[in-house]
Amino acid sequence: MKNGELIVTPKADDSWMIRLDRNGEELCRVELARKRMRIGRSRIATGGVSALYTPPDRRMEGHARALMEASHDFLRQQGCSIVLLNAIPDFYHHFGYDVVFPVYRLFVKTDRLMHARRLLNVRRARKKDEPALVRCYNQCNRYRSGTLVRRMDWRFTNLVNFGRPPGTLLRVEDKRQRVAGYALCRTRSDRYFVQELNACSPAAFESLANAIGMRARRTGLERVHFKLPIDHPFGEFCKRFGSEWEIQHHVNAEGMGRVLDLPRFLAALRPELTYRLGKSARSENACLWFVTEMGSAGLKIAGNAVRRIRKRETDAWDIALSQTMLLQLALGYRTVSDAANEKGVRVPRLARPLLEVLFPPSPAMMPMVVE
Ligand SMILES: CC(C)(COP(=O)(O)OP(=O)(O)OC[C@H]1O[C@@H](n2cnc3c(N)ncnc32)[C@H](O)[C@@H]1OP(=O)(O)O)[C@@H](O)C(=O)NCCC(=O)NCCS
Repeated sequence: MKNGELIVTPKADDSWMIRLDRNGEELCRVELARKRMRIGRSRIATGGVSALYTPPDRRMEGHARALMEASHDFLRQQGCSIVLLNAIPDFYHHFGYDVVFPVYRLFVKTDRLMHARRLLNVRRARKKDEPALVRCYNQCNRYRSGTLVRRMDWRFTNLVNFGRPPGTLLRVEDKRQRVAGYALCRTRSDRYFVQELNACSPAAFESLANAIGMRARRTGLERVHFKLPIDHPFGEFCKRFGSEWEIQHHVNAEGMGRVLDLPRFLAALRPELTYRLGKSARSENACLWFVTEMGSAGLKIAGNAVRRIRKRETDAWDIALSQTMLLQLALGYRTVSDAANEKGVRVPRLARPLLEVLFPPSPAMMPMVVE
């Protein structure tokens, strides 16, 4: 390529480091990963971008742009139809990204959590517990948008060591010593932080809440911050202790994404769209033709079956919007009525009720695409 030569180094499974080099000099580098992310019942092949870096004496020469464009091509070749990243402010719009996830934080006072009863045994997880914890994660999140499909050989070690100080992985077990839930916790400067929590019963929630409260008290921190989406059942459970939510919608920062391959993205959405139509009990015969700055693609709806079409049909509804707006709709970040009022978006009035069924609002949270 024009700027230099691309050197791709595979890291772990489905992750790579890509360097842009010229005559042995590193001009820019980035880390990429391929994940499978859920949007309800759909599994979307999703690229993750992290650690983009240009050495200071090589900045503003277009190397990050060249590498980002090459990264998008690379991820497309790997079958990814969308890409996500945790963004520094005011930079990634240069590469077609927009905000697609809010940031949710749940806060509960440490002393209140200690009112929860320790009904089940909670202990530190051991290495051999991890497959059962992976199963618990996948089971609890099986239809939750914004979560990743973790393979059975996936290990929590990456998350435990992600951030300083290292996290503690707690495991709660039922009376027959089977995994009933887990939480990954660590201290932060002014709060005790629970990075991930999943459990399958109220007794498991109660026991984890107590164990987390005890640990937070030992560190002297007065409040616990849980990283959870606003509809997570643990958030509902915590109402009894008094809780506070913080929701941030950033502009050009944090959880950002874009579509890489529009026809493939629409095809991957089909299982969830079919489910949503079925649940709504609507029976439709319609053709939706999405016209974006990166091309067009369509969906045909017959009864409650959804399929992708390659060519526009004469009676199709043309929906003009950006590729990021389509991703925002699919993730439930924006509503159809809000999107329809945005400059440059065109949604035929008659198509709106159907689109509202297909793209309802949803409190999805940004997954750890670098995990
Ligand atoms: C951010 C960084 C990767 C940019 O690299 P770069 O090689 O200088 O970027 P480019 O020259 O390819 O610039 C691409 C575009 O972004 C703009 N840009 C560059 N640095 C920017 C910054 N820090 N903030 C906002 N815009 C920036 C350029 O003006 C250019 O816009 P244009 O194409 O419309 O003219 C580099 O400054 C860096 O390594 N920073 C420290 C690490 C970091 O923050 N990485 C991001 C992790 S999410």
